[in-house]
Amino acid sequence: MKREQWGSRTGFILAAVGSAVGLGNIWRFPYMAYENGGGAFFIPYLFAMLTAGIPFMILEFSMGQRHRGSAPKTLSIINKKFEWLGWFQVGVAAVIAIYYVAVIGWAISYFGLSFTQGWGTDTNAYFFSDYLQLGDNSPTNLGSIQWGIALAMVIAWGVTYAAVAGGVKSGIERASKIMMPILFLMVIGLIARMITLPGALEGVTYLFKPDFSKIWDLQVWAAAYGQIFFTLSIGFAIMLAYSSYLPEKSDISNNAFMTVLLNCGFSILSGIMIFSVLGYMAHAQDKGVTDVVSSGVGLAFVTIPEAINLLPIPYILGPLFFFALTVAGLSSHISLVEAVTSSIIDKLGCSRRKAANWVVGVGFIISMAYATNGGLLLLDLVDHFANNIGILASCLVELLLMTWLMKVSDSREYANKQSDFKIAIWFDICLKFISPAMLIIILVDKVDTLLTDGYGGYNLNLGWAMIALLLAVGIIINVNSKKSAQGANV
Ligand code: ALA
Repeated sequence: MKREQWGSRTGFILAAVGSAVGLGNIWRFPYMAYENGGGAFFIPYLFAMLTAGIPFMILEFSMGQRHRGSAPKTLSIINKKFEWLGWFQVGVAAVIAIYYVAVIGWAISYFGLSFTQGWGTDTNAYFFSDYLQLGDNSPTNLGSIQWGIALAMVIAWGVTYAAVAGGVKSGIERASKIMMPILFLMVIGLIARMITLPGALEGVTYLFKPDFSKIWDLQVWAAAYGQIFFTLSIGFAIMLAYSSYLPEKSDISNNAFMTVLLNCGFSILSGIMIFSVLGYMAHAQDKGVTDVVSSGVGLAFVTIPEAINLLPIPYILGPLFFFALTVAGLSSHISLVEAVTSSIIDKLGCSRRKAANWVVGVGFIISMAYATNGGLLLLDLVDHFANNIGILASCLVELLLMTWLMKVSDSREYANKQSDFKIAIWFDICLKFISPAMLIIILVDKVDTLLTDGYGGYNLNLGWAMIALLLAVGIIINVNSKKSAQGANV
């Protein structure tokens, strides 16, 4: 069967940017930049982007485009012994897809609430007590399903299913062509209005004010690297699947640069948008910007709703913000689900619709764990392990295999043969030496921190068990593939 293809170069870039630009840009990046040294964070962030993000994206685009396969297929074509890594990456993508959809569900609910600011004046109490009804639940004691959240998640799964089952060109590409321009326009429109509000500029100044003392902090570098891999959707099966649908004569390096720069540019725009609102809120409440910022979930679902209450025309700006968050999330969710679906199609040779039915069906059922009272806490724990251990370890192993066991110059020469412009030896140096060295230091530190300090007061056995399970599944499939290949040769 002929492999599906993107309809146009623009279609591919919009899909790749759609995958990259997601919740990570809007709710994670602004706070991360602020917490890790403000303007000074841009030094490790840009360093990670240049030495890891761009070359890794070129590497994955070359691998996917050249071998025409999802992560497990591409890696097993390169070397039969590498297939397990592809399945591990698919597992990480699946785990992320299943919790990511819950956040999109919350964004959909808040989009509905935002027309009348249905979250009331105490947005903290609303989110935790009324909406999630968190109570004293925990990741191992989830409580019951909140049907309002479940319904919003059904909508999100529905959109993703329509795009993935619709096919590469008529589903994913078409969705990206609609979603991406709308998303960029909405965010630019929001910034244009917010930046003129009193106090907004002070907020943005806070974001960019450098605290150079942070540059020497390993945690800051770890945050920058972690963010780059997550935000660019590299190292967890997505970009391999997306680039495997590129036609034979396709540019690699230019496409990779464009994807990375558009994504990172969008992150900076999101930072400006969020911090304009925070600056305005601090001004309106006569507080300092530091007193109003909060992290992650709290930022998007507690602080921003509180700020929306204070905005002029909140019934327009509020829905715009939550619609933008929803669209950004959905276009990434589509890519996460596609990473899994394409691997199943490649492995079993089944139809796209059948694979999508299974992936979305099973994913939907498991995702209901996040629609519960304690879903937020489970999400926090799983997200921490998926990002800090799953993605970073998988990126490290992929780099080591592709640059130490295989010849990295092969990938560079292949990219150069295909591309509008040529990349030089810096590509090899970044991927063979700088990025693995950084990843090893960061991973060792992360594991040590988890073992000594724990995380969030949770019982971490669940997180470690999840990583072990993904690894075991990958290895079992790999061993079986080799056995059946040997059987076929007898
Ligand atoms: N790259 C996606 C994001 O940043 C997964 O949310």
